[in-house]
Formats: sequence, C-alpha cells, structure tokens
Amino acid sequence: MSIENLEEIAQAMVATGKGIIAVDESTNTIRKRFEAAGVENTEENRRAYRELLLTAPGLGDHISGAILFDETIRQKTGDGTPLVDAMKKAGIIPGIKVDKGPVPLAGFPGDVVTEGLDGLRDRLKEYAQLGAQFAKWRAVINITEDNPSSTAIEANMHALARYAALCQEAGLVPMVEPEVVMDSADSTHDIDVSYDVHEAVLRSLFNALYEQNVMLEGTILKVSMVIAGKHSPEQASPEEVAEATVRVLKATVPASLPGIVFLSGGQSDAQATEHLDLINKLGPHPWPVSFSYGRALVAEALNVWSKDLKGNVAKAQAVVHERAKENGEAALGQWKKR
Ligand code: 13P
Repeated sequence: MSIENLEEIAQAMVATGKGIIAVDESTNTIRKRFEAAGVENTEENRRAYRELLLTAPGLGDHISGAILFDETIRQKTGDGTPLVDAMKKAGIIPGIKVDKGPVPLAGFPGDVVTEGLDGLRDRLKEYAQLGAQFAKWRAVINITEDNPSSTAIEANMHALARYAALCQEAGLVPMVEPEVVMDSADSTHDIDVSYDVHEAVLRSLFNALYEQNVMLEGTILKVSMVIAGKHSPEQASPEEVAEATVRVLKATVPASLPGIVFLSGGQSDAQATEHLDLINKLGPHPWPVSFSYGRALVAEALNVWSKDLKGNVAKAQAVVHERAKENGEAALGQWKKR
C-alpha cells in the first residue's frame, strides 16, 4: 500500500467532528468490566455487547473508526453478517489492537514494557485480510516516586516504533499509544509531574519513529491528557488540563502528523468530554484533536444493557450514540453541557 492510502485512512480516522470508539478490551479486562456490571462473561455476551455498540443507529455520524480485539474481528452480528462488514456499512473503519499487553520490565521495579513484536508481521497480514485498516499498540508509563525510568520510556517507545513500521509495511495505519497512567492506586502525582513525563515520553516516541523510518503522514497518535493523578490532593482545573495538554503537544508533536486522539484513562465521562472541548476551544491546532475513548464512551451503555440483556439493547444504543455525539461536539470545541 502506498503512503497516499495510509494518509487517506489516517485523515478519515480524524475526520471533522468524529472520533474513535475503543472496544478492544482484552479477555481479562472485559471480564472485569462485565463482572462489575453483573454480566456473565461468555463469548456470546461479549459478541452481543460489541454488536450492540458498533451497530447503534447513527453512530457513524460521530464515530470514524473502532478498535477491536482479536476475538471480535472474527465475530458476526446476530444475522450472520461479519461484524467488520456491518461496521463498514455504518461508515466505521475497522481497527485492531495488536499488542499483547504490558509485563514487568526486568531490572526496573514498577516499570512495565509492552510485548507483542514477535510474529507481528504475520499477524498484521492476517488482520489486514480480515478487513482491519488501522492497528493499535499501547505502551504503559507508570508514575511513582521512582518511575518511569528513562530505560522504560526508551524500551517502550522503541517497541512502539518497531510496531508502527511493521503496520505501514502491512498497509495498516499505526495508532501509536503511549499512556501515562493517571488512575492507578498510587497515582498521586500533580499536573506538573504529568507534564514532564509526557514531554519526555513524546520526545522519545518521535525520535524512535524517526529512527525506524515511520512515515508520520500515515500515523495517528493516541495519548493521555496532562492531568494530575486520580489520588493527588492537588487536582488541576479543567482549563489547566487543557492548557498543559496543548502546550506539551505543541512542544513535541510534528505538524506533519494527520491527527491526535485521546484515551479517557479513568476520567469520568463528563471530565473526558469537557477536557476535549476546552482543548479544542484553544485551537486551531496544527492537527485535528479528537477522541479514542473506551470507558468514557461505553461505561454508561454497559450499565444500561446489564439491567436487561434482551430488552435494553435499543436503550443502551441510544446512550452510546449520545456519548459519541457529545464527544463529536467536543472535538469541534462546540460541546454544550447537558
Ligand atoms: P480508555 O478510554 O478506557 O482509557 O480506553 C482507551 C484505550 O484504548 C486504552 O488503551
């Protein structure tokens, strides 16, 4: 695939007023989400849940693409249509999570590194055949008194860049995701620490992408916001979060990148939307700045669905549609508090 094709897909992923829905929870993570909601974690329930979300009427008006998990990209809707075909019909670009998750980084207590490079070339080839047009890899950066080490940052960004180069070779747009965690039990850092870690991580990432010959024009950045840890006594205002986030992105992200999307990372639904709106109100920026939320888009829909798996499908679909619509407005800086 040529760079023009990759550019076209990347631009469609951040089309004006649209963002991405992340339904790529691994089997372990979806088990936790279902358990919390009281839904039995069966393959059929996981299938029905993802179908409900991805076929919500009108979702494609606000959602450009969806990140799937390996199991999901192989599943069909209730009427036997491959889920990927149903998504394409709804105007939603299929994406796939291809990392194998974080493991402890040997020699660096508290730091983790994401695995999944071995055999990735073949897996990407198969995902492309199954209809994926972009892929996602998440690097996890923990903040404590002693973390992250510069070794952890470099190891993770090197892996992200290796993954990104393999994606482009396979004709998939890499969504490179460094997540600076804000919601772990020991997330007590303030916004200034978050800023410094984001700056170091993003500098290292773009160096690594350059070293691995990754074409930025066919790459999307998915990143966390600059925000205090969930358990910090010093919470920054929404305006401060927006200002610091824009400042670090402008300092580190080349203008040739087609777009930036945020993860929600444990922010409340309202916070995630308000922050995105304020960030866009500070624009125009060199790139479209939108969302690629998981929890902040789907948590309420799962809650509604869990109360009646057969009877509440339409209700849950209306909820996810509304969350997508609000975040679509925030991607334009035109969100009105409901
Ligand atoms: P959250 O928005 O729930 O953080 O999930 C997005 C995602 O894909 C994290 O990798």
